[in-house]
Amino acid sequence: MVLNQKNILFCVCVGIFASLFKGTGYFFNMFSFYSPSGRNCSTMEKTGLSPLDPSSFSRPELAVVTEIFLNLSVNFDKKILIGNVDLSVKKIDENVNEIVLDSSKLNIASIYDAETNDKLEYNLSEAIAEYGSKLSVQLPKKDSNSYKIGIKYETSPDATGLQWLSPNATAGKKHPYLFSQFQPTHARSVLPCQDTPAVKTKYTATISAPQEYTVLMSAICNGSKELHGGKLSHFVQTVPMPSYLIAIAVGVLQSRKIGPRSHVWAEKEIIEDCAFEFAETEHQLKTAEEICGPYVWGIYDLLVLPPSFPYGGMENPCLTFVTPTLLAGDRSLANVVAHEIAHSWTGNLITNRNFEHFWLNEGFTVFVERKIKGRLESPQSQDFDAYTHVTELNETVNRIGKDSPLTQLVVNLKGVHPDDAFSIIPYEKGQTFLRYLENVVGGPENFEPFLRKYFDTFKYKSIETKDFQDFFNNYFNSNPDITLIDWKTWLYSPGMPPVIPDYDKSLAVICDNLIEKFLKWDGEGEIPLTIDDKKNLTTNQIIYFLQIISEAEAQPIKKLEMLNNVFGFNDIKNSEIKFRWLRVCIKARWEEKVHVALTWINIVGRMKFVRPLYRDLYQWEEIKQRTVDNFLANRHSMMHVSAYTLEKDLHVDA
Ligand code: BES
Ligand code: ZN
Repeated sequence: MVLNQKNILFCVCVGIFASLFKGTGYFFNMFSFYSPSGRNCSTMEKTGLSPLDPSSFSRPELAVVTEIFLNLSVNFDKKILIGNVDLSVKKIDENVNEIVLDSSKLNIASIYDAETNDKLEYNLSEAIAEYGSKLSVQLPKKDSNSYKIGIKYETSPDATGLQWLSPNATAGKKHPYLFSQFQPTHARSVLPCQDTPAVKTKYTATISAPQEYTVLMSAICNGSKELHGGKLSHFVQTVPMPSYLIAIAVGVLQSRKIGPRSHVWAEKEIIEDCAFEFAETEHQLKTAEEICGPYVWGIYDLLVLPPSFPYGGMENPCLTFVTPTLLAGDRSLANVVAHEIAHSWTGNLITNRNFEHFWLNEGFTVFVERKIKGRLESPQSQDFDAYTHVTELNETVNRIGKDSPLTQLVVNLKGVHPDDAFSIIPYEKGQTFLRYLENVVGGPENFEPFLRKYFDTFKYKSIETKDFQDFFNNYFNSNPDITLIDWKTWLYSPGMPPVIPDYDKSLAVICDNLIEKFLKWDGEGEIPLTIDDKKNLTTNQIIYFLQIISEAEAQPIKKLEMLNNVFGFNDIKNSEIKFRWLRVCIKARWEEKVHVALTWINIVGRMKFVRPLYRDLYQWEEIKQRTVDNFLANRHSMMHVSAYTLEKDLHVDA
């Protein structure tokens, strides 16, 4: 470890932090890979993780990757990508002669100077679970500070950032399928890189795949051609972006044009449904541009993945990935697309420097997503979204623990993997904070110009919370009300936000009345809800209705049967409704619903649904073993992040 001022300061801070938390139990969990005997600079050295990004080994402050050139072939039989990557490197600190990269489970064949082909020495350190290995490469000896190094390698079949699907996990059932999910730290399992969002690079890629497959990436495709019975596709991403936004999908796909700069991609079995569901994409994009400024990424395509995709959506530039569980048939779940569109500014243009500041990505994105909704639908539905999520935030805070540091807006990820820290806290507490700030400075007419200036000032950069705070204080320095803002509590106190803004509740009140009627009903005689009540509710109101019922005390099965007679929940297609209905049924210990829930989560991999359902079933004593057995039988076909997080939720050994 090169000792500079920052490092020394960091080690002192770790020391102070360590003594504060000694003996709390939490501390040992936080620092699980630090030996209890010495949490100091030398242990930091042992883990090799960066003092600037606790989730990466790379040291871009010493030597930084400036461009990536990928050249890979897709091998479905072996479930590997094989080829090479060239990295342009710039030395920052004159005194270093190596570049430090992240890698995980990669089989490296050779590393060389890509300009001379001379071999380069390298060292691959022992892997640390979930973080991978530090890869240090000696830089070529030459006068200039710019280098190009080449790495010949292949991925492992269990690369954590890839999912290799067998044909039966696809809609067509005939061809295998490959997709990636790199956020937060899985790019390193597919290419050696500086896998920290502090580093932004352009990239190009040449991908070879069997002829009948379409290759898509988070970049502009500038052509594919036939070669030796296979197909070569070329991609270029000219906007610098973090490694977690590199993405690839390979499958037998079709596309439909859904706007002047958008196509939707999917397997042919669902392509028409997709074209219908996402027909409002261009409206959403235009509205986002009105709020945020020009869209710089050229195209905005959508890829609808097979159901095992672990997230609702992923903002891969030029090509948002989404789950097929958004296909409700009525465009009611398209807010996820608005969310991913908003990331084109918040996250993809302005990026969190490390995942401790993840709220700068997600809190801002939810805030902008709801502004899009406010403009496209109504201010009432914008507020309804915000208000209903307060309940979900509350549920999450209670589950994680209202004193847990993981409920802070800015978290400490030293020793905590970002996949373990993931929750809706940075999303909802983050958007609540922004809405609060907006109110303090006098509403959208003052805040939105600020937001534009913020985007313009920090675009193409990676920043941390203090950058935002300083910029805000500077911009509004003549506004006396900003002295009211308790930044420390908002950013660093655990638990619920200190202030919940006064949201418009007109859409919620209607539901609250029905909820009250239903909960008070003793189950005798007629159910106090009618088909007209159902007709008068929007999908989002029904979702809220069930959300509240699912958090209330367990209901008698008889009441739920009657509720189903009115609302038809047993046959519902909408995944958000189905999810909450199943939670209500499981809470009621409605035995025949166990099979329904397990069957669903064996197909659908979206963690937002799968994790709570698994946790609910696990808490049901009589069903616990069946739940665990179901997980064990299926975990091998899940993406790493789903299996990994569920192992912890269900207390199963890895
Ligand atoms: N970037 C996230 C997904 C993500 C976060 C993947 C962290 C891996 C690590 C994406 O933009 C997202 O937030 N998706 C949400 C959408 C929702 C909030 C509208 C989802 O997946 O549900
Ligand atoms: Zn997001």
